[in-house]
Amino acid sequence: MTEEIAVVPGDGIGREVTPVAVDVLDAVGDFEFVHAEAGDAVADERGTPLPEETREAVETADATLFGAAGESAADVILPLRSAVDSFVNVRPARTYPGVDAVQPETDLVFLRENTEGVYAGHEAEVADGVTTCTRVVTEDASRRLAQYACEYAPAGFTVAHKANVMRVTDGLFRETVEDVAAANGVDTEAALMDALAMHLVERPEQYDVVVCPNLAGDVLSDLAAGLVGGLGLLPSANVGPERGVFEPVHGTAPDIAGDGVANPAAAVLSAAMLLEFLGHDAAGARVRSAVEDVLEHGPTTPDLGGEATTREVGAAILEGV
Ligand code: NAI
Ligand code: MG
Repeated sequence: MTEEIAVVPGDGIGREVTPVAVDVLDAVGDFEFVHAEAGDAVADERGTPLPEETREAVETADATLFGAAGESAADVILPLRSAVDSFVNVRPARTYPGVDAVQPETDLVFLRENTEGVYAGHEAEVADGVTTCTRVVTEDASRRLAQYACEYAPAGFTVAHKANVMRVTDGLFRETVEDVAAANGVDTEAALMDALAMHLVERPEQYDVVVCPNLAGDVLSDLAAGLVGGLGLLPSANVGPERGVFEPVHGTAPDIAGDGVANPAAAVLSAAMLLEFLGHDAAGARVRSAVEDVLEHGPTTPDLGGEATTREVGAAILEGV
């Protein structure tokens, strides 16, 4: 049966790397692509960064490939994540042969809570010059994340938290995740997130799967990007019970947008995660290995020290799938 993929390139380099990922999906599967707009450009034209038909396309498609949105990112990606009821953002960060990395032994996966924390959207200016942000942590969301983590990492995982300071909110997060893990017979190791940041830089090889509150997962996964060779390499999956939104971790990269030199690896690896989510494991593995081959032997884009364009790298990946 033909599956439907919503394609939302967004702004900036999202428009350059997403077509490469679509070509790769088209080469390995039988998909119908539904193209939809979101982001700054459509906001200028239509007054909203997320038109209703885009939200509907994402709600009804089997899976969505998203690029990046600019200043409107929060008004696009947060509603898209909720459109598929995504409760976990899966962010693998690993090194690849041939890619110069600060820490060559890095092979991490961040499982980031995707609905609440300080990203719940409860900010206010309570007086002139005084602002607040209400952090939301619920047992339900922590439990859902923990159950996913137990299935994803039955051998055990690290729980990032700051419960020594945010005793109530991160206290609940830590306790709930640890309880669910214990009930499933899964080992956990709790880690204070600030010290964890240092340890990830010094000895990332001692970590594997890290379960994080929302903001911590955002920050620690970008830190890991720095360890492995940059944001051009990090894919992600916003997983819901039935659907998912797959996107590179990077944003619109205004410093290089329009130059045609963005690294498409993160977007194509996100497409590999999409394939695996839909159960096409063999196709996902083919895509992954084509990307690895190109990263090792070239051509590569300037972020990895090469001189190739997005299209040239895309063509090389396509040849390898
Ligand atoms: P960014 O990820 O766009 O760029 C950070 C740095 O990494 C830049 O120097 C950029 O050139 C480089 N980079 C990122 N992806 C790359 C790729 N594929 N190939 C080569 N180099 C790459 O983050 P920044 O600069 O903080 O944000 C720029 C805009 O993107 C902002 O408007 C922000 O709101 C938006 N953004 C959107 C996200 C989303 O849609 N999910 C996520 C993060 C940022
Ligand atoms: Mg981020």
